[in-house]
Amino acid sequence: MGVPTTPAVATSSGSPGRPYVLLSCATSIDGYIDDATEQRLMLSNDEDLDRIDAVRAGCDAILVGAGTVRRDDPRLVVRSERLRRARVARGLPPSPAKVTLTARGDLDRRARFFTVGDAERFVYCASPAVEKTTELLDGLATVVDAGDPVDHGRVLADLAGRGVGRLMVEGGGTVHAQFLTAGLADELHLVVAPFFVGDRRAPRFVADGRFPWHSGRRARVAEVRQIGDVVLLRYALSERCGDS
Ligand SMILES: NC(=O)c1ccc[n+]([C@@H]2O[C@H](COP(=O)([O-])OP(=O)(O)OC[C@H]3O[C@@H](n4cnc5c(N)ncnc54)[C@H](OP(=O)(O)O)[C@@H]3O)[C@@H](O)[C@H]2O)c1
Repeated sequence: MGVPTTPAVATSSGSPGRPYVLLSCATSIDGYIDDATEQRLMLSNDEDLDRIDAVRAGCDAILVGAGTVRRDDPRLVVRSERLRRARVARGLPPSPAKVTLTARGDLDRRARFFTVGDAERFVYCASPAVEKTTELLDGLATVVDAGDPVDHGRVLADLAGRGVGRLMVEGGGTVHAQFLTAGLADELHLVVAPFFVGDRRAPRFVADGRFPWHSGRRARVAEVRQIGDVVLLRYALSERCGDS
């Protein structure tokens, strides 16, 4: 299937230069975002998945790292027919564009990222792997040279140029840590599931790093909401983040 040529139409909460960036993640009580087994760990509940669907529907693009594409094989589409119709009524495609980052370019053409839905798909690739990845994904995605190493500012500027005003970043840990440490996140939705993983072989929300928020510079809590048996913590990470 070819990639549609029309740019995603912005929902216009971004500013020139870069989109508004919303990070979304679910963790266990002890801060793990997965376990160490082969199966995908369910941290959210059905009600929260509906909320995430609505957040997706309000964005122009959804970004995940290539690790998440390989490990979770996510569809990254708006599931609700009602929300898809509402987007179309606003002149938008039914689902946001899909975006991934890769240095190696070693992606599977059969991944649902590439095969499910009609959304535009973008692969931001480190320069040395662009040629190989373009050949590999021929017709399945637009492969964009994102520098060597990949430059997040360049990725965000390119997305803005394609009409992406609001970007949802859905993980995994490597990608979340990069956006956070680079100060490129406006808002964080952190869902805490009511159980422990207790296995240090499992991935955590973020690895070590120099984060702009620490004991001397605390992030602002914009909202706390119980959703069934999970809790949503919404943190404002920039002045661009409102309270609603
Ligand atoms: N609980 C949740 O909310 C949630 C959500 C999503 C994922 N997860 C979990 O997160 C885990 C995966 O996390 P992860 O940290 O291993 O993977 P990840 O962050 O999804 O992806 C990391 C990969 O993305 C590419 N990448 C990331 N930053 C890059 C950069 N700056 N330049 C070039 N390439 C870059 C590289 O791909 P290449 O190797 O191709 O070069 C890298 O290996 C899985 O266990 C998944 O289940 C949990």
